[in-house]
Amino acid sequence: MVIRPARTAEAGELAALAVRSKAHWPYPPAFVAQFARNLGFTADVVGANDVWVLERDRATVGFSTVLHRGAVCVLDDLWVDAAVIGRGYGRLLFEHAAARARAGGARDLEWEAEPYAVGFYERMGGAITGWVDSPLGRPLPVMRLALDRASAPG
Ligand SMILES: CC(C)(COP(=O)(O)OP(=O)(O)OC[C@H]1O[C@@H](n2cnc3c(N)ncnc32)[C@H](O)[C@@H]1OP(=O)(O)O)[C@@H](O)C(=O)NCCC(=O)NCCS
Repeated sequence: MVIRPARTAEAGELAALAVRSKAHWPYPPAFVAQFARNLGFTADVVGANDVWVLERDRATVGFSTVLHRGAVCVLDDLWVDAAVIGRGYGRLLFEHAAARARAGGARDLEWEAEPYAVGFYERMGGAITGWVDSPLGRPLPVMRLALDRASAPG
């Protein structure tokens, strides 16, 4: 198992993984298609941000993106490939992202949560602090983790 920086050349592969991952939840196909159209996960995005890929046996199983913004860091992506959800990879990626944020000097990690993933994030120590309108036309919970309480990197 290795967590390594993403390469710009794999942006398309990672975007496809994110769409498969989103489709794990019981959404209608039209919603997943709209999500895919709005995703905008390009090589430029990978090149400009802190994107990390989790590999197992040289196969990509998930990725995360952390936006370093001073005291409050943003977790912008957390995706585990649909075929391997529920095997501990999400925890590894989340703990690594929290460690990146902490190493960057942040005090808190914040993210807009997929509603079906709230239970996972609560398990990671996060709590809902508010709600925000999303581009897909529904409110999303905003969640936050105080990094001094976060567990050590996986
Ligand atoms: C959310 C996601 C990243 C979690 O990754 P995962 O690999 O399935 O999670 P893990 O197997 O590491 O689970 C870690 C813990 O969280 C719990 N957990 C996982 N998903 C959960 C859920 N939806 N609700 C409640 N608890 C959950 C697990 O039971 C496990 O608990 P444990 O510590 O007692 O063993 C993954 O389900 C995913 O990629 N989903 C689709 C995309 C998505 O919604 N991403 C989030 C965008 S904001």
